This record gives sequence, C-alpha cells and structure tokens, in this order.
Amino acid sequence: MKLIRRPRRLRTSSSIRQLVKETSLSVNDLIYPLFLVEGEGIKKEIPSLPEVFHLSIDQLEEEIEELKALGIQGVMLFGIPQSKDPLGSQAYAEDGIVQKGVRKIKSIDANFLVITDICMCQYTSHGHCGILKKDGSIDNDSTLGFLDKIALSHAKAGADMVAPSDMMDGRIASMRKALDGENFKNISIMAYSAKYNSSYYGPFRDAAHSAPSFGDRKTYQMDFHNSREAIEEMDLDYQEGADLLMVKPAIAYLDVIKAAKDRFNIPIVAYNVSGEYSMLKNAVRNNLVSEEIIYETVVSIKRAGADIIITYFAKDLAKKIGGFYE
Ligand code: PBG
Ligand code: ZN
Repeated sequence: MKLIRRPRRLRTSSSIRQLVKETSLSVNDLIYPLFLVEGEGIKKEIPSLPEVFHLSIDQLEEEIEELKALGIQGVMLFGIPQSKDPLGSQAYAEDGIVQKGVRKIKSIDANFLVITDICMCQYTSHGHCGILKKDGSIDNDSTLGFLDKIALSHAKAGADMVAPSDMMDGRIASMRKALDGENFKNISIMAYSAKYNSSYYGPFRDAAHSAPSFGDRKTYQMDFHNSREAIEEMDLDYQEGADLLMVKPAIAYLDVIKAAKDRFNIPIVAYNVSGEYSMLKNAVRNNLVSEEIIYETVVSIKRAGADIIITYFAKDLAKKIGGFYE
C-alpha cells in the first residue's frame, strides 16, 4: 500500500502527541464562581450543584486558600441577600453580601482576582434582571442607573472587574461612564454580551434564588435560534467599551464562541453554566460516563476559541491539569 499521507504517524507516541497538540487548557484560563450568603459558619452544599457550596463570609479564608493551592487565581462572585425589594436595594448596599465578600477576599490576598456579577435578579422581589414598569415590563433605561450603582459599589469595595449579566441595552456605555466618573478608569468590564435565554440556568436559579416570579427573560436574553444577533450584541458592547466579551452558555453555543473569536481581538470568555455542570457531574457520579469527560468537554470550549472559561469544574480541572500547561 503506497500511502503518501498518514496522519497516524503523528499519533505514534505520547511525546509526539504532546508536540502536535493544538489546544492547551491551563488553570490560568479558569474562573471559579462563588455563592455568598449572610450568616456565620455556613458551608452548605447546593442541592442543584453537587460539590458547590453556599458560603458565609467567614468561610472565605479557607476557600481562597484552597483555590490558591490549586493554582486558581480568580473568582466570580454571586450574592444571595437576606432581603429583596422591587428596586433590588441590597444589590448596591455598601454592606451588601457581595460588597462584604469583595472586601474580605481583598483583605486575605489583595492580588487574588475578584470579578463580580452585576445584575438585579437575586435582589429584586420579582426576580427580574431590571426595574419593572407598572405594566410589568422591564424599564431598560431606568435600570441602567441601578446597574451603575451596583458596579460602583463593587468597585469601591475593591473588585478588579465587573461583569454585567442583565442584558439591558446600553449598560456598558453607561457603566463605563459611571466608573470613569468616580476615577475607576482601570476597573475592567467583562460583558455578558451574548447571553441566551437558556434552560441551562436552572440549577443556578435554584442556587441563587433568582428565578423570575412571573414570566420569563425572553424580552432581554437572546433567542437561541440566533447567532448573527450575538455578533451584533458583541459589536455594541465592544463599541461601548467592554474589555472582555462573553458567550453564555458554552457547550451548546460553541459556534457562537468560534464566531466571536474570529471577529474580535479582545479576550473571549465562555461561561460553562450550571446546567452544563450539573448534567455532566451527575452523569459522572452515576458512572454513566468516565470522569475524563469533564476535561474533554472543557477543552472543547477552549478549542472553539474561549480564552477564559468560567466553570464550576475549575477545581476538578485544576486537580487534573495542575498549575501549568498540559
Ligand atoms: C443572573 C445570572 C444568571 C447566571 C449568571 N448570572 C442566571 C440567569 O440569567 O437567570 C447563570 C449562571 C449559571 O447558570 O451557571 N443574571
Ligand atoms: Zn439577572
């Protein structure tokens, strides 16, 4: 048999395979989400998110040390407030749960990267991501000022980066102006730009108590039939001053991640969301598939073009790949 091209030649040994490997996943690429709750001595596993915990502020010392030991250098903070109201006032309270969390982490290690999710849904009594008009629809433009207040309060607490996940139009321009106005010129904005209306958020909404009390999020989150619209959202966020662009969810949206990577020259972030995590985690725990599937799946997100991956698998992955490229 006279075959000229034999792709198998480059698969003959482990060292050759390492040499020709096109994609590397590093712990440097990973951000771990944390769920903060009021109270003391709380470290309670979240039923919808196996091996992920609700943590009170006093547990952060141990948590951050664990992450650092694994080589993970950044977290995304979510807060579950003690009380909710129609204007989500705990979201921008100086002693709100996230604000306290940021200050605590920065007091443990000023160099540890803290990104905060900016949204209203955990804090509003109605569970929507914006302020409601009398008729129950979302008031886009009056929501912007509230998002600005949340971002400013997080920046004041010491956050390195703010990540608006609300999907209101114009929030990046508004937030950039508000941050610059208070001299937070170097606080970057990670925009949840292409955030789809997705059933994959189910376990998160249980964990964050943020499900809408009526209706759905279809008037602000994107329709999953669309991908060109994702480019439009990212174009706008880029023009408005976003420093990083996010696609969310990740696994069912690899085509959108690829399109984002091809078009933009700023970092592309993928959020490997709660439903994606819980489905795989449960499948592994029930021995339906091998644990290796976690690494394979997250590599696919990197291969599609994500530079940064927010994932509940960060600890599992760090244990596998260590603090260096593999
Ligand atoms: C809040 C928010 C959500 C997620 C991140 N920020 C849920 C939602 O939009 O309903 C989802 C994260 C996940 O599922 O892991 N706006
Ligand atoms: Zn929200």
